[in-house]
Amino acid sequence: MDRIRIIGGRPLNGTIPISGAKNATLPLMIASLLTKETLILDNVPRLADVALLQRILGNHGVDVTVGGKRAGETADHGQTLHISAAHIVDTTAPYELVTKMRASFWVLAPLVARMGQARVSLPGGCAIGTRPVDFLIMAMERLGAQIEIDAGYVVAKAPKGLKGSEIVFPKVTVGGTHTAIMAASLADGTTVIENAAREPEIVDVADCLNKMGARISGTGTGRIVVEGVAGLNGARHSVLPDRIETGTYAMAVAMAGGDILLQNARPELLQTALDLMQASGVQVTPTNQGIRIARNESELAPIEVTTAPFPAFPTDLQAQLMALMTRARGTSHIVETVFENRFMHVQELVRLGARIHLEGERATIEGVERLKGAPVMATDLRASVSLVIAALAAEGETIVNRVYHLDRGFERLEDKLSRCGAAIERLSG
Ligand code: UD1
Repeated sequence: MDRIRIIGGRPLNGTIPISGAKNATLPLMIASLLTKETLILDNVPRLADVALLQRILGNHGVDVTVGGKRAGETADHGQTLHISAAHIVDTTAPYELVTKMRASFWVLAPLVARMGQARVSLPGGCAIGTRPVDFLIMAMERLGAQIEIDAGYVVAKAPKGLKGSEIVFPKVTVGGTHTAIMAASLADGTTVIENAAREPEIVDVADCLNKMGARISGTGTGRIVVEGVAGLNGARHSVLPDRIETGTYAMAVAMAGGDILLQNARPELLQTALDLMQASGVQVTPTNQGIRIARNESELAPIEVTTAPFPAFPTDLQAQLMALMTRARGTSHIVETVFENRFMHVQELVRLGARIHLEGERATIEGVERLKGAPVMATDLRASVSLVIAALAAEGETIVNRVYHLDRGFERLEDKLSRCGAAIERLSG
């Protein structure tokens, strides 16, 4: 298993290119199941999760080919995927694949919408809490699917097709909203989705679906209206930049000090996080190439923040912000309201010398003078990268174990950071 070795204490200077968003790429790839024609996706990040979803879709009979390199293209350009679901040969998503990546459960909606049936394994538990799929199942039932749970599988049937309806989510859910939009796109009649997720990735996927011939309006608000159509066609779409990767590197610079251009980043995708960092003393300057983040010797002020659905502060940046606040002058509070048990990074940050106290969903972080490198263990995607951020500012050597979590969501992390002056390397095996 690979590990990452970091020697802390070096500032970051230069440019970091921001990749396409993982959380848009996955549902966009899944949306290819809705049409017989080819969907072309540009700016796709090279991530383990993307490769895994390629395998999962392959199991349904979907062909995915990666476009060749064009003149002038470097590893900083995303890849182009040509995805063709001309012939769906299998409507089952097996346990072994779905448990490896929760988002693959989302194939349920397009399979039922197009094929009238699907058998998709329940994803089971995961490191950041129970993460049920009851709202996704409810959305499919509201659209007329008959659902049974059989031997750990969700068996969904709609032999006469889905019917437009009203879906009211009791809690904002990204996966539930993707599910409802994809299924409603091929349903008969109009669907109204209330308390819909407003995340930019929802808007991006709906934009692509509209290019494919869907009729979706209201995305980016809590009320989405989908007028069902009889069929969808192919399209070409470029994935929006990853706001979580953007915020992560912004916090890395704030932690280590220095001056970095986050190339291709779009400030409106993470305004709450940028405002918070600015209030804490970090320089944030939107430019026409992206976002410049800088911090000199200045101290960081503590913050108070609660994670919540977009446009509030994202849960996917909570661990990174906590790492940053370990170096603030004073006491910060972070309340996690999206996922229970998303604090596994706390004990690892403590190993680096952080002072953090947990009480239910509330973490109290007392800023410390210095962190000290140590061996630490990555537990999930966002937790792992918070350890990398902390290590960039810790004295001496930190070894982050189990970095396969990082490879799921961060493209060439050590490469991007080392090009800006960080002492970071991957140790194989
Ligand atoms: C997506 C993101 C993930 C992010 C999360 C919240 C992707 C691939 N993943 O995950 O990175 O952290 O949004 O922004 O885009 N819930 C239920 N029942 C359900 C579904 C959800 O109770 O059927 C609860 C969850 O446990 C959680 C909350 O609703 O407390 C929000 O979860 P949701 O938005 O659905 O997260 P994901 O779509 O799985």
